[in-house]
Amino acid sequence: MSMIERVREKARADRKTIVFPEGCEERTVQAAAELVAEKLADPILIGDPDEIKKEADRLGADLTGIRIENPTGSEKFADYVHALYELRKAKGITLQAAEGLVLDPMYYGIMMVKMGDADGLVSGAVHTTGDMLRPALQIIKTKPDMKIVSSSFLMDCPDKRLGEDGLLVYADCVVVPSPSEEELAYIAVAAADTARTLCGIEEPRVAMLSFSTKGSAKHESVSKVQRAVEIAHKIAPDLLLDGEMQFDAALVPEIGAGKAKGSPVAGRANVLIFPDLQAGNIGYKITQRIGGAECFAVLQGLQKPCNDLSRGCSVSDIVNTAAMTAVQAQSIKL
Ligand code: ACO
Repeated sequence: MSMIERVREKARADRKTIVFPEGCEERTVQAAAELVAEKLADPILIGDPDEIKKEADRLGADLTGIRIENPTGSEKFADYVHALYELRKAKGITLQAAEGLVLDPMYYGIMMVKMGDADGLVSGAVHTTGDMLRPALQIIKTKPDMKIVSSSFLMDCPDKRLGEDGLLVYADCVVVPSPSEEELAYIAVAAADTARTLCGIEEPRVAMLSFSTKGSAKHESVSKVQRAVEIAHKIAPDLLLDGEMQFDAALVPEIGAGKAKGSPVAGRANVLIFPDLQAGNIGYKITQRIGGAECFAVLQGLQKPCNDLSRGCSVSDIVNTAAMTAVQAQSIKL
């Protein structure tokens, strides 16, 4: 069974409610129908019911089992406005501004998750990463034991000798452009958690990547990764984490043994932490395009799961992202 098939099985076993702010968008309507048919999640589409029904008719999609929420005229509207105002008044929001925001399907969806009326959110078929991330960061916020929200890419590689039976977790590839050493340490701890929760990897082995292995090169950017390793050991002393090390030293047993003798991670890493967003984003695309890996993106570190799609996503990308969101929601302990 592939990683994503295992995720789908897990989602099916304990169904969660997933809200889609882009409820009138055609791939989203089709994905919601598929989620119901496959019993993977209980979807909520946000938008004008007439518009959603018209779109479903055009597509021949069955709306049975799909809840539709219209921010305009919603009985939850006043509660959400009040809650948003209370959450953000110290940042200068007015009651009138909160009313305007809650009418926006993105904010309405985020408020549904915040208030416990949905377990998780998926968007991005139309909106940019920032459109969803900013309200999620402001309203849902980071988990209490986490300093930062970041992302992991789950890379399912054709070469099953790599990582965990071909599975590798890459972070951060989407969110934090220039992480500090402390942020890098928290990204590593969050990625290990994602490896456990979503990939079923019982023993995450985390490599902190660099162009240097164990002091082979000297540069301020290398020292930063070394300091991140020290901080990560303090935050998560039981986690198998090592660095700094090069990509090949992390993955290839003979190179790891030669360059980082005695390392519990080198040559057998299954979680790879890139030093910044440029490296992470380029790295995942190389693995996907040249290495032929299937890749699945999730956000990590939020108190409740919200996930982003690429605007070129397919219906099955949306279904898979909703299933991953549901599995993340299963692990939330508040
Ligand atoms: N973790 C936790 N909280 C954060 C983070 C973070 N990573 N980043 C910002 N915040 C908080 C801020 O503290 C602030 O909170 P507050 O308002 O309660 O004080 C709030 O979020 C908003 O912060 P801003 O600084 O106003 O937000 P910003 O405009 O910097 O946007 C964003 C944050 C969207 C994450 C930004 O860092 C970003 O654009 N990142 C890159 C996204 C991107 O383009 N990715 C690549 C493309 S996607 C792809 O390739 C698949």
